[in-house]
Amino acid sequence: MKSIILRTENIFEGNLILVNNNYPLRKEVTRGLSAAVTNFPDILLKNEAASLLRFILVKISAESRIALVSGYRSYGEQERIYGESILKSGFEFTKKYVAQPNHSEHQTGLAIDLGLNKKDIDFICPEFPYGEEICDEFRKAAYKYGFIQRYEKEKEAITAIGHEPWHFRYVGFPHSKVIFEKGLSLEEYIDYIKSYDNVKPLAMKHDSGIETEIYYKRAENDETEIRVTDDCIYQISGNNSDGFIITSWNHK
Ligand code: DAL
Ligand code: ZN
Repeated sequence: MKSIILRTENIFEGNLILVNNNYPLRKEVTRGLSAAVTNFPDILLKNEAASLLRFILVKISAESRIALVSGYRSYGEQERIYGESILKSGFEFTKKYVAQPNHSEHQTGLAIDLGLNKKDIDFICPEFPYGEEICDEFRKAAYKYGFIQRYEKEKEAITAIGHEPWHFRYVGFPHSKVIFEKGLSLEEYIDYIKSYDNVKPLAMKHDSGIETEIYYKRAENDETEIRVTDDCIYQISGNNSDGFIITSWNHK
């Protein structure tokens, strides 16, 4: 067994951090960002999310049909977008579709807004309709490669954001699969996963023959110890509030 020591600051980083009205971004992202595709060189995402987004777009031959509208935003950019939206569209609209600075997933580098690639794309509410073939193909593929649709109509009361068919969030596989299949919001998933621990993890067997286990570990005072088997592949993410989510992959 290997022992990994996590510190309080690690709670605020990783693919599964929940950033919303109640939980601000605690750790600014400045490194590890890249463009997903060359035809949108200014739209950046965390490297892992950028690679998987590119993979999906290539797989469904969508590189020229889907536009990358907005990815990583700095605090300053979110502040400007929020302010401009208030002036142009008013407070009610802005509250629904633009998160306050430091409360936007876009600042994590894990969120991407997509639009049908055409002239005059709306920056705040790009068109990415249901029933449009390429958009539905993206939705069908997204959860297999770590992305979820983040702001669903029926979850508005939980997310406190309006329905955004264009906004996708990278959480990583197999979390995206659980969220998709159980129809959860990220808020609900972060809660749901707390019912699993290292003694009784959420175990899944995938078509590829890979087995995954997911569990939650509440952070202890200064240091939290996680133990993993020597030969497994694992990933650890903070939840941005009180603990860690551990994912391991085993090929049996
Ligand atoms: N449109 C989403 C809520 C944001 O501004 O982060
Ligand atoms: Zn967005």
